[in-house]
Amino acid sequence: MGKGVIIACDFKNKADTLAFLDNFKDEKLFLKIGMELFYSEGPDIVREIKNRGHKIFLDLKLHDIPNTVEKGMRSLSNLGVDMTNVHAAGTKDMMTAGLKGLTKEDGTRPLLIAVTQLTSTSQERMENELLIKEPIEDVVMHYAQNTKEAGLDGVVCSPLEVQAVKAKCGKDFITVTPGIRFAAKDAGDQVRITTPARAKELGSDYIVVGRPITQAENPVEAYNKCVEDFID
Ligand code: C5P
Repeated sequence: MGKGVIIACDFKNKADTLAFLDNFKDEKLFLKIGMELFYSEGPDIVREIKNRGHKIFLDLKLHDIPNTVEKGMRSLSNLGVDMTNVHAAGTKDMMTAGLKGLTKEDGTRPLLIAVTQLTSTSQERMENELLIKEPIEDVVMHYAQNTKEAGLDGVVCSPLEVQAVKAKCGKDFITVTPGIRFAAKDAGDQVRITTPARAKELGSDYIVVGRPITQAENPVEAYNKCVEDFID
């Protein structure tokens, strides 16, 4: 399994996204396309970015009844993305259905990972609004175990949870970790943050980096620093 820096392309439209990508000339990147861009531009944005030779993590976090997730994933399976995801809260049946839908007739498929508890969910809200009373760390680990049992490849989690996830689900179980910052003062709305170098020490497989690269004065330099600190 390769290590990688995934750039979160949180842009509102195709023009902004392509203008950003032009900074990188011919360099081949691993890019995350989320709801904002996918809902505004549709599947064509995925095809266009694929045609430029980049890898894609399509971050749509599917969560519905198993049949709907299976059919939704079947539609996404034709896009040629490299990684996509579901919510583990949809249960093992739903995750297995997603995996089935994503798998092509020849048996190939993109990596499928699951979101455990969103990092925006606090212990308090989980208890009061979702009526889940266990410590959030235990909930994340339990969802990771369910994800593994459903046959998926890994989870999105905080870099701070990587070691516990690997201990429970095995070293080959992929961890994709957002919440990356070069310095604590740049946290923005992220709470539990880590530097690329620390994420490497903690054993993350992929870091997802948005604003520290997309809003940087020199995005190429910021990306290269991530690669240097996380991979080299
Ligand atoms: O700009 P920033 O580096 O905070 O972007 C992080 C990216 O990772 C965003 O696209 C955000 O939606 C995503 N993400 C996250 N936390 C999660 C799951 C996804 O920050 N638990």
